[in-house]
Parts: sequence; structure tokens; C-alpha cells
Amino acid sequence: MKYFIITGASKGLGEGIALELIDENHTLLCIARSKSEKLMQLAAGKGCKVVFFPYDLSDHSGISKLMDDMFKYIQLTEAEGIYLVNNAGTIHPVGRVEDYDPDDVKIHLHLNLLAPMLLSAIFIKKSKGVSGTKRILNISSGAAQNPYYGWGCYCTGKAGLDMFGRCISEEQQGEANPVETMGVAPGIIDTDMQTAIRSTDERAFIHRSKFVELKESGQLIAPAVAGKKLAKLLLSDEFKDGAVTDIRDTY
Ligand SMILES: NC(=O)c1ccc[n+]([C@@H]2O[C@H](COP(=O)([O-])OP(=O)(O)OC[C@H]3O[C@@H](n4cnc5c(N)ncnc54)[C@H](OP(=O)(O)O)[C@@H]3O)[C@@H](O)[C@H]2O)c1
Repeated sequence: MKYFIITGASKGLGEGIALELIDENHTLLCIARSKSEKLMQLAAGKGCKVVFFPYDLSDHSGISKLMDDMFKYIQLTEAEGIYLVNNAGTIHPVGRVEDYDPDDVKIHLHLNLLAPMLLSAIFIKKSKGVSGTKRILNISSGAAQNPYYGWGCYCTGKAGLDMFGRCISEEQQGEANPVETMGVAPGIIDTDMQTAIRSTDERAFIHRSKFVELKESGQLIAPAVAGKKLAKLLLSDEFKDGAVTDIRDTY
């Protein structure tokens, strides 16, 4: 059995990845504030176990208990593979840094950076005895590499997540069965996050019209298409430990 812990699997890219991982030999342990009925129904029809753990990942205080609850579903000694997909994220707050509300900055970094850091830390600790494959996939963004006017929080969180994955990879080098990590930018995907980007004030995000144009010219990638590529990469030999890449350079 392979086990997948997926954050933000209720919709968008996370749901796209989870749908692609439906298999009777897979168990999907999903974290989000809401559930995907579509995922649960399709999985049930194919004999794949899916459990949703309703949780707000901007609150770090319950993450340890959340992982305890999830690991009760994992047979560590028999696991062929155990995977963590850090996908949940937000674009808010968007705007110049001097206009930030401190609470918004805190929520953003807790969700986009602190939560994946804590989930990864606990994942590594709890999976120590697993002899099968152990992988962490961090969903990155082109914003991790390039500064965008109005996206100070988002760029910083994604850049931090990329570096955190690389640090894990560095630490795992001496392990007999290391946890492998990879950061992957998924392309521009037609999700609620893109809707949020298109509805920001042009003064807060000066590139807004470019994203409107991408949507109107049909250039956004469907979550199912991006999810398929990422799920394939997660399970393949092309998963390069310690790498930070763009899925468009891989598939
Ligand atoms: N869309 C793009 O073009 C694009 C491009 C590059 C990178 N990405 C990255 O891809 C990832 C997924 O984004 P998306 O486009 O699929 O966004 P989305 O459609 O807005 O989905 C975000 C997911 O994260 C979950 N989430 C949000 N806030 C949460 C919270 N406080 N606690 C727990 N879960 C929370 C949401 O579930 P609930 O609302 O049910 O909690 C949802 O499942 C993000 O890391 C994003 O930065 C997206």
C-alpha cells in the first residue's frame, strides 16, 4: 500500500493530483477546510480509501495532533511508499508591502510556509522506520524565483518553501533510506486562486491584465492536466531529490 498525505485536496490543483492518485492500492489522507465530494465518490467506486481531515492549516497549534490522527491510518512497517504533498496555499494578501495588515501576513506565512515546514518535520520523524519510498513534493511557483509587484508575501513564502525542501534533502543525505524532496512549479492553472488574482485591484497587482488575458485566450492549464503530470512525477524515477523545477521543463 502507498500512502499520500495531500494538503488542499478539496479543489483546484490538490484535487487534480488526488484524483490522479485514485487506486485500490493507495490511501489518500487529505487536509483542507472543506471536502471534495467528487474525489470521495470516484475513489469509493474504485476501492481507494480517502479520508478528509478538516483543518485550517494557518493554525499551527493542532498540526502535531493532526499528523498523529493521520498516521493512525498508515501501516508503517508494510508501507511500500509514503508521500507528503504540500499543496495548500493562498495568494492573499496582495498589495504593496507598506499596506500590509500584520495579521494577513501572519496567516499567509503560517499557511504557505510554516504549515508545510511542520508537516514535513513530523512526516520525517514519523516515517523513520519505513523501508519503502519516502517523498515530499512541495508545490512551488514561478513566484519563488521572480519578484512580482504586489506579491511580496507569496514570492517570499514560495522561495522559503523551495529552500526548506533543499535543506531537508541536504540533511537526509546520510540516512539509510532518505526522505526525498522536490519543489515543483505547476504552471498557470485554472483554479480559484487564478480567479482571486484576476479580481485583485490593478493598483495592488500591476500584472493583473496579463492574467486576465491568459484566461481569455484559453492559456490556463486545467487542474486535471497539471494534477496528472505532478502525480506521475511523484511516483516516477524522474523525481529528483533536492531539485526545484518547473513541471513544464519535465513533462
Ligand atoms: N493556480 C495557479 O496558477 C498556481 C500557479 C502556481 C502555483 N500554484 C500553487 O498551487 C497550489 C494550489 O493552488 P490552487 O491554484 O489549486 O488554489 P485553490 O484552488 O485556491 O485551492 C487551494 C487549496 O488549498 C486549501 N486551503 C486554502 N486555505 C487553507 C487553509 N487555511 N487550511 C487548509 N487548506 C487550505 C483549499 O481548501 P479549503 O478552501 O477547502 O480549505 C484548496 O484545497 C498552491 O500552493 C498555489 O500557490 C498555483
